Amino acid sequence: MHHADWWRDAVIYQVYIRSFADADGDGLGDIAGLRSKLDHLVSLGIDAIWINPWYPSPMADAGYDVSDYRAIEPRFGTLGDAETLIAEAHERGLRVLLDIVPNHTSDQHVWFQEALAAGPGSAARDRYIFREGRGPNGDQPPNDWRSAFHGSAWTRVTEPDGTPGQWYLHLFASQQPDVNWHHPDVHADFLETLRFWFDRGADGFRIDVAHSLVKEDGLPDMAERNWARLPFRIQPIPGVHQTDHPHWDRDEVHEIYREWRRVADAYDPPRVFVAEAWVPDPSRTVLYLRADELHTAFNFDFLRCRWLADDLRAVIDDTLREHRSVGATPTWVLSNHDVARHVSRFARPQRTGVRGHHLRDLAAEADLALGLRRARAAAMLMFALPGSCYVYQGDELGLPEVEDLPEESLQDPTWERSGHRDRGRDGCRVPVPWSTATPSFGFGPEHGAEPWLPQPAWFGEFAASEQDGVDGSMLELYRTALGQRRAEAALGEGEMAWVASPEGSLVFTREPGFGCIVNVEAEPVAVPEGWTFVLSSAPLVDGRVAADTTAWFHR
Ligand code: GLC
Repeated sequence: MHHADWWRDAVIYQVYIRSFADADGDGLGDIAGLRSKLDHLVSLGIDAIWINPWYPSPMADAGYDVSDYRAIEPRFGTLGDAETLIAEAHERGLRVLLDIVPNHTSDQHVWFQEALAAGPGSAARDRYIFREGRGPNGDQPPNDWRSAFHGSAWTRVTEPDGTPGQWYLHLFASQQPDVNWHHPDVHADFLETLRFWFDRGADGFRIDVAHSLVKEDGLPDMAERNWARLPFRIQPIPGVHQTDHPHWDRDEVHEIYREWRRVADAYDPPRVFVAEAWVPDPSRTVLYLRADELHTAFNFDFLRCRWLADDLRAVIDDTLREHRSVGATPTWVLSNHDVARHVSRFARPQRTGVRGHHLRDLAAEADLALGLRRARAAAMLMFALPGSCYVYQGDELGLPEVEDLPEESLQDPTWERSGHRDRGRDGCRVPVPWSTATPSFGFGPEHGAEPWLPQPAWFGEFAASEQDGVDGSMLELYRTALGQRRAEAALGEGEMAWVASPEGSLVFTREPGFGCIVNVEAEPVAVPEGWTFVLSSAPLVDGRVAADTTAWFHR
């Protein structure tokens, strides 16, 4: 779409750059690798890419520990490479979203190094969240907050004079100190980073943990909270899906995004944002999407939704109602670099085998053929819903989670921080299989270093080269469905209407003249009179839509 509102119905492809394509053979993906695959992305039929952090980083959290926001990690390339990539994407009609990490910096960031050197009470420390410890010797953390990667959210530093000193807050790994958003330098510096990349042609940003930036004054203990559980329709996450949290989703955070919106709107065309905000309820999500704040947010309710008709219907209804209330466009997403791939989630019995969206939440044997069949149906459902969609690299190949990575290869900080109880997120980050031509399945060159995470032997079956031009492959389904989505006036932004259908199925129409049948777990569903077949995720059976199948029609 070539208009300023392109993001309202775009399909955005997530490039997890370190695992996408390795041109220089060091085992890590890079910008040159991404450039070499732009034509693959064009042939897929997507509108934009979102690139995970590509800035200089010690890689304690795979690049989400940024040490310099206005430069490129040398292992990924140079600033010149980045500018060339953006220009080449634009020439092909693709927009480019980058990833900004405003909750924390790397502990190697110059600000944090200054803060350590300057000592307690200094102006440099005030850019972060340093506090004295509790207990007689100050050797207890300042409060009971937990890191999202397990363990305490506080680490004690050694002061410049060699004595045990203050503690600093890190909601993630200890190498990711949280910055202090009450400090004017923090505001000014992130605005400069936004402008730096906007000036270089970036079309917008995905905002990392957009809901965590502001902490409650006084940093009160979690234990004192009187939690009220929200009437959340799908499995709540304890500690997250709760109201009035001292560091998630505080109302004060919205002022920051009003400031950012003014910067984005000053560009022509205006630049756009998508929030990563894991909040309790869609009524909280859409607060980020008020007219003077962010444009879009990931729909994690849809990502977390099990393959069950009533749950899907509830999530779709809640999403549409809440987004309508602020005039925002919904988004839909099935997987990303933080969750177990949906083929593997859908491969489990949905009522008993899926407790959440992480690998650790999956129980029961995987039936991967079933997972793939459902993933095909889910993609076609998602592409037919009103709004914009996200595709995570490898979704279009039907990649499952790699559930059995050798322990010695695990790199997610979660693994160490959990005392080896939680394998973390590496299983969805394994480098993409492009072909069967090189030892790394085309990820890197023939004689390149081993990929940063090992690919299992069976990865070759999913390689793009094995699916290219193969009727019925996941890759060809994505291409056909995305091409059709573009051609259909009814798809993308707009309205939809439910049609009565048997329990266990979802049927809806969109105007002009489009109909969608999703059979989740019903007996084969009959096609309404006058509907003509367009595309389906699995063959119709005697003219009916069987279980775990989505089909599109004209009417
Ligand atoms: C977001 C990112 C995740 C990262 C975390 C800390 O959730 O998606 O990968 O570990 O933020 O930056």
